[in-house]
Amino acid sequence: MKKDRTVFNGRNNRRSFLKNGMVAAGAMTAGVGLVSGSAAFADVDDRAPITKGDIAILTFLSALEQVEADLWIQYAELGGATNQGLSPIDLVQNGKKIVTGLAPAYITGLLQLDGDMPQYIADNTDDEISHHAFLNNYLQSKGAKTADLSQFAILPPSRVTGVPQHGRLTNLKQLTVDTSWWTRYRSATQNPDLGGTFENAVPDLAKGQHPAIPVSDDDLVLDSMGNISNHLQAIANTAGFHFAFVEQGGSSLYPTLAQKVTNLEVLRVLLSIGGSEIMHFQTWQDKAGNATNITDGDLTFPNLNSGIDPNNGASGSEVADLFQTNLIMPEPTFLLRQELGPVSIIRPTGEPAGGAIGAVQSFVDDGLFIDSATNKNSGIVKVLFRLAEEADEARRRL
Ligand SMILES: [Fe+2]
Ligand SMILES: [Fe+2]
Repeated sequence: MKKDRTVFNGRNNRRSFLKNGMVAAGAMTAGVGLVSGSAAFADVDDRAPITKGDIAILTFLSALEQVEADLWIQYAELGGATNQGLSPIDLVQNGKKIVTGLAPAYITGLLQLDGDMPQYIADNTDDEISHHAFLNNYLQSKGAKTADLSQFAILPPSRVTGVPQHGRLTNLKQLTVDTSWWTRYRSATQNPDLGGTFENAVPDLAKGQHPAIPVSDDDLVLDSMGNISNHLQAIANTAGFHFAFVEQGGSSLYPTLAQKVTNLEVLRVLLSIGGSEIMHFQTWQDKAGNATNITDGDLTFPNLNSGIDPNNGASGSEVADLFQTNLIMPEPTFLLRQELGPVSIIRPTGEPAGGAIGAVQSFVDDGLFIDSATNKNSGIVKVLFRLAEEADEARRRL
């Protein structure tokens, strides 16, 4: 027994020597980089101040979060939950309570996508309000000007009974929704940062103009059987795809801008909020896949599990992989260079596709700022582009 233990210990010692030896060798190799690396970190902590570029990035993000909050509030008013289990939903903006769940028939349509849609809508709204408020509080704490675009809240909201009839920053009644994020996150070979192009999951949503909220009480009328109309289901499906469109934008924007930040705390703010945008996107891209295969006028939601490309009728295993609804994890694709091999990633994370100007342009193309009275964009677009330009111009100063 004793001998055995000695042998065992001996072997163990030898193994641990080998292991430690390897660790020591590894530490030496790593040490070359580590010394200068830790010195660099000390610099970041001690000396890297908040730069003008950092402030420009925070200001732009605060402005864009205000836009996000505005559109999510409209979704929550109509389709958000009214209670959270035993407690009431307490959505508040600037001290004012936001009324939720005003359109039960719209909620019926949303529930086709997931039984928890109203709760998720209320929660996403809460998150965007908090993003905007926090970023403004942070700017203020650093002696910088806060971002406030409320002067552009001039667009009329839904006329559904109960919706507060004050002007809004965004228009959810005539959207053109880009659904190419669907195939972008399923492609095993393409990356927008490397010039990749991507097909739409719902080609009809990418052309024409479609409501993502019930425009008036007329949209909510049930048929004689008590069912919602195809039109209302199409509105709910449009919302489902729009949710993911909005949130994939934030998922790329934060990591893209993070690469331009100088101050470590500002970087932490961007990484922390950016991660929550990714959680939003992942939730919504899963739910959008439950949109029922229906047609309303010139808008068809295709059966994405049919193995047929809704854009050109092509079929085959590659097509199936690009559209299948449960393939919601980011398919490994190329990052930086092909020789590094495929990797599962957020995409894009570079300019121009993922930058601030790109984000504003995608919102403009989405029709979010169209003033239906003039059919032109409201004045917010000019301001957002200016803030975006300043954010994109920021450079990491180390
Ligand atoms: Fe956000
Ligand atoms: Fe978001």
